Amino acid sequence: MRRLFVAGNWKMNTTLASAQKLAGEVVVGVAGITELVDVAVCPPFPHLLPVSQSLANSRVMLGAQNAHFENAGAYTGEVSIDMLVDVGCRWVIIGHSERRQFFGETDSQINLKVLAAFQRNVDVIFCVGEALDDRNSGRTESVLSSQLKLGLANVRIEQLEKLVIAYEPVWAIGTGVTASPEQAEGTHRFIRDWLAARFDRVSADAIRIQYGGSVKPDNAKQLLSLPNVDGALVGGASLMSNQFLGIIHAAADLARLSGE
Ligand code: PGA
Repeated sequence: MRRLFVAGNWKMNTTLASAQKLAGEVVVGVAGITELVDVAVCPPFPHLLPVSQSLANSRVMLGAQNAHFENAGAYTGEVSIDMLVDVGCRWVIIGHSERRQFFGETDSQINLKVLAAFQRNVDVIFCVGEALDDRNSGRTESVLSSQLKLGLANVRIEQLEKLVIAYEPVWAIGTGVTASPEQAEGTHRFIRDWLAARFDRVSADAIRIQYGGSVKPDNAKQLLSLPNVDGALVGGASLMSNQFLGIIHAAADLARLSGE
């Protein structure tokens, strides 16, 4: 079994005080569990440094929600990957559907970001997902193939150990609607087979594919127990420590079961 990975995407939420409180509660709540499951939190940029201090001496990892692909320069309002490394980030989320939808991020920009992160040794949660129209009209696989092909262009096979894919159907994000187990497993299997064809089977089998979209403590176990679902990228439920910890505990229970 691939090691399950639960990451919290806080989006544009939290105050400095609530971010530190939430991080502190996660650290306390995962004691003894991070041996079984990988856990990360991805706060807004201004809270990265204080949250990294809250996470010190724990195995909870820090991630950012976006980055620019250039290292430095006249890019008003942008944040480089080196800056993220400086404040303790191990991960960066790239290509989230909200970045694509609301900020016009293109597949080629996303690709440059993925390559820049790998070059600087930062691990990537690369998001893909289809809109409701795509699913209803049978275009899910062609949309995902295109996002994967363009987003992972020029990625080398040896860089794959720094890659996690997050499958996030756009219609399930923040809506309370979750993909059914059949939809999630079928789509994750499709993504894994695509990776096997693009790279090779052994590498594809090692890549973790998170599911994202209205993951909550009460649906986590069912989703995370699917053979090709290797974790969760959690939005809304990651803002409440009891809910986020509920999802992490569900993952830990499954890890324990598979280790028995
Ligand atoms: P959600 O968000 O859990 O609130 O649906 C998931 C995400 O956007 O990563």
